[in-house]
Amino acid sequence: MSEEKKKITIAIDGYSSCGKSTLAKALAHTLQYVFVDSGAMYRCICLFALRNGFVSNGMVDKQALIERLPEITLSFHKNPETGDQAILLNNEDVSMLIRSFEISQSVSQIATIKEVRQKLVHQQQLLGQKGGIVMDGRDIGTVVFPHAELKLFLTASIEVRTQRRFDEMFNKGQEVAFETVKQNLLERDRIDSTREESPLRQAEDAIVIDNSNLTPDGQLKQALELVKEAIHQQLA
Ligand code: CDP
Repeated sequence: MSEEKKKITIAIDGYSSCGKSTLAKALAHTLQYVFVDSGAMYRCICLFALRNGFVSNGMVDKQALIERLPEITLSFHKNPETGDQAILLNNEDVSMLIRSFEISQSVSQIATIKEVRQKLVHQQQLLGQKGGIVMDGRDIGTVVFPHAELKLFLTASIEVRTQRRFDEMFNKGQEVAFETVKQNLLERDRIDSTREESPLRQAEDAIVIDNSNLTPDGQLKQALELVKEAIHQQLA
């Protein structure tokens, strides 16, 4: 098989707001692969929990949510107007709603629940069955696709990550103080790295990219070189 035709699985993990989805989307676009933002799936479960009153004063009624999990279906489709990927929660396009700061404040607690992770990991693995996929998240290289041919672990300084998320939210009309955004990222990193169920950690065979001083184009170029090498190794 030629190098152009061989399709691999690319896992991208890393801390909150360090450009994983930006890179994953750009890679998938360039390589004509499927792109899956696994964080969006956790955000959808969080939205469902909030809507059903399972989160109050920062506490999650885990049992109530677990009982209702079978009712939840998640799917992806292409928005015909923008060409962007949309995520559907029980057939409703919630792509914008899941980006609220309210969701960011509760999602990491939802992501500690074993039953939630089992449901989502199963769906993620089905999506990646045929290869030719770029998925970003926290446990992609360690749990979802432990045999991925290329694993990237993205990092950036907390100041850079906060600025990026602050700008992104500001541009969408969400005005949250810089310090509040920073504390949310640090708190999510803490919960994600210390939870019992598949905590965020760098897979042993992951390649680290610190993109603090890289443009989106710069990180795409580096990653494409690594994809080339990974495909070459597969065919060697
Ligand atoms: O985009 P951002 O870095 O803010 O986060 P995200 O990728 O949308 O993920 C939201 C949250 O979902 C994370 O903070 C994790 O708590 C959780 N998550 C996870 O536990 N496992 C994944 N594979 C992806 C996300």
